[in-house]
Amino acid sequence: MRPISRRDALLLGGLGTVATAAGAAGLWWSLASPRQPLGGALTGPGPNLLGPPELRSENGRLQLTLDAARGQVELGGRSAGALSYNGTVPGPTLRLRPGDELGIRLVNGLDEPTNLHVHGLHVSPQASSDNVFVEVMPGESFDYSYRLPADHPPGAYWYHPHHHGLVAGQIFAGLFGAIIVEEPEAIPVNSERVLIVSDTTLDSAGNIAAVTPMERMAGREGELLLLNGQSHPLLTARPGERERWRIINACVARYLRLRLDGQQLQLLGMDSGRSATPEPVDELLLAPGNRADLLVIAAAGESVLQTLPYNRGGMPGMMGRRRTPASGSAALAVFRVEGESGTPPGAVTARPAPEDLRPAAVAARRQLILAMGAGPGGMGGGMGGMRFSINGREYSEARTDTIVSAGTVEEWTLVNTSPMDHPFHLHVWPMQLIEDNGQGAGAVVMRDVVNVRANSRATVRIAFRDFRGRSVYHCHILDHEDQGMMGVIEVR
Ligand code: C2O
Ligand code: CU
Ligand code: CU
Repeated sequence: MRPISRRDALLLGGLGTVATAAGAAGLWWSLASPRQPLGGALTGPGPNLLGPPELRSENGRLQLTLDAARGQVELGGRSAGALSYNGTVPGPTLRLRPGDELGIRLVNGLDEPTNLHVHGLHVSPQASSDNVFVEVMPGESFDYSYRLPADHPPGAYWYHPHHHGLVAGQIFAGLFGAIIVEEPEAIPVNSERVLIVSDTTLDSAGNIAAVTPMERMAGREGELLLLNGQSHPLLTARPGERERWRIINACVARYLRLRLDGQQLQLLGMDSGRSATPEPVDELLLAPGNRADLLVIAAAGESVLQTLPYNRGGMPGMMGRRRTPASGSAALAVFRVEGESGTPPGAVTARPAPEDLRPAAVAARRQLILAMGAGPGGMGGGMGGMRFSINGREYSEARTDTIVSAGTVEEWTLVNTSPMDHPFHLHVWPMQLIEDNGQGAGAVVMRDVVNVRANSRATVRIAFRDFRGRSVYHCHILDHEDQGMMGVIEVR
């Protein structure tokens, strides 16, 4: 197995520097954890991998109802009192094509408000499209309608609630599902899997556990790590087969550092980004919200899909307090390759190189400062004393923080002044990663979630070529978003 190159490290979000974050100051408490047996120690594979029901557009249209409700669902092999869309965790997978129209009736059967966001889709943020300012009250419903542009990038996307203050809790309790935008010309594979990774914690009664103020501050990481709602399921293939895995990190705060040793992996792209030819990789870092589109060339044997520890930094003023949950190491699934050799499908043809914004004229340069600091209560003033802000301000729906002229390209420098990583997410308009902590990106790297490491910075360029209206950017550690690390953008 070849060592990971600097270029891979960049592509994957900077694996090369994972160890540096904790060293900042003795005051800062490290979130890095030793190995911990999440989801139970792996004593052998569980049941075969299942997937949620799939709904596919026909003649350019998909119409469905999502019922958000509390109820008993199966999570990790046991019955759990959770939230779900249409009774399954994850909710149904939606398969679309560029140019399609998607209609979703969201029915709120919860006892609190909710709404819906289509994460990563390049669609209008206005009216009944991807409008996160919509509020659907308990017992009410709302008809969303989205039109994908004809040139919408193919890839793996997802949907989840976006009601400010309730996002982390509702996702942690089971409200999320996949959206796949297919390519005009299919990539030949023997099978395709949608793999949604989530985590949650159940209490002794089997209900979603309450979280502490400390967990909300660090970003909650659940004790139960799930793949399509299952605990280390079994995936099977035959030697020589090529599979396509769409991996979605739907965890509220957990970083996934994925490996599948013994198998050959080729990355097709991350988020809406695509490389011209599949890129060999050994390891993948997915911050919360990121997706990977991966080819797996199956080799005989049994491999474990695992996530390795990731140091996402620490919190101010936690010296001597108890350790918080961390992105530890865990087994996610067993991949068993056996039997007669399968028939390898045809070659993967090169795709057109994505547009590079580096030569583009930049209409505005901005700096967004992501900060955590002592709030009104003061540093020693208890857990309620932490403020999460962007450019010194906490989220307010009424205020527009960033006004952009439609039709322009902007360059944003994302500055993280805190000792903890923050995965920065912008709705509607994808970002091209230009520089990560002083290192220039080689190829065109498109992301809708860019991890800004502790005490570090990243530069992105964004083409605001189409869609006007108000939307948001925020930290995708959703506890941080709920506590104010979010801003409003308006393109006009
Ligand atoms: Cu997946 Cu505004 O987020
Ligand atoms: Cu989003
Ligand atoms: Cu954050």
